Amino acid sequence: MKIFKSVEQMRSACHTAKRTDRRVGLVPTMGALHEGHLSLVRAARAQSDVVAVSIFVNPTQFGPNEDFSKYPRSFERDCELLEEEGVDLLFAPSVEEMYPQGTMTCVTVEGLSDKLCGRSRPGHFRGVTTVVAKLFNIVGPDLVFFGQKDAAQLAIIRRMVRDLDFLVQIVGCPIVREPDGLALSSRNGYLDPQQRRASLALHRALLEIQTMFVRGERNLERLIEAGKRMISEEPGVRLDYLEIVDPESLEPIPQTRWGQAPQLSRALPCRQGLVAIAAFVGNTRLIDNLVLNLA
Ligand code: PAJ
Repeated sequence: MKIFKSVEQMRSACHTAKRTDRRVGLVPTMGALHEGHLSLVRAARAQSDVVAVSIFVNPTQFGPNEDFSKYPRSFERDCELLEEEGVDLLFAPSVEEMYPQGTMTCVTVEGLSDKLCGRSRPGHFRGVTTVVAKLFNIVGPDLVFFGQKDAAQLAIIRRMVRDLDFLVQIVGCPIVREPDGLALSSRNGYLDPQQRRASLALHRALLEIQTMFVRGERNLERLIEAGKRMISEEPGVRLDYLEIVDPESLEPIPQTRWGQAPQLSRALPCRQGLVAIAAFVGNTRLIDNLVLNLA
């Protein structure tokens, strides 16, 4: 695996790969790698000729009171894991290398960036789309792999690609979980044993909603209320949001659009609902989601 810290070197290695007609797959990450990240790397390995991974803890997507400085960093171990997965190119720039002159130019997906986590973390998605656009320009990937774990991020990036005509294919990959259901996250390491137990409430809430849905409950308000009740029964968890939204527009689904076209309107029926949840366990903010499918 070749490791590059400079934009120019990474760009030239990727261009060399593309000149020989090889498909470049990119997996953008912030490091502290776990099985969730590695599942993306394996998907990239299966679908591309050259696998590129980036590790960059991007300061512009963290708010002033968030965990940028204490975000877990484990570069040596990450390199070992990526080497084992047969990664070809690793891009690991410094903040100065990525933003030598700060940032004046940003990419914002208006109307999506303020939904879900964007509401509680203003500026977060602008930071994400800007750095991802920069990575696309540096690497020039054919395929880029993202986890469904960050469902809003995935929807926003898909929209950015469509709106800005990036010539890349976005591949969404399923959420990887611990055996007890907790979605893997680099932030899980912040949890003490008691918080780790409490954090299962997020998955319990999603399962409760899914079970009710499978048994035929179609009332969105009742599904949301049942999920919220599950969370409120766990004193160690403080809910940020629990919503059922259109997976593309990230707007809450009105009951009248759920499976049926509303009368006297041209709005299309919504046949998929993204149940998205964010909650604090102590100071750690966790997210999780699942998709309800009417089809
Ligand atoms: P990071 O949180 O490191 O996640 C990198 C990728 O791994 C994302 O696409 C995320 O959805 C995926 N991922 C994380 N946990 C996962 C899990 N349990 N199962 C499946 N996939 C999982 O997301 C970011 O970094 C950044 O915002 C980034 C896109 C790199 C831009 O800075």
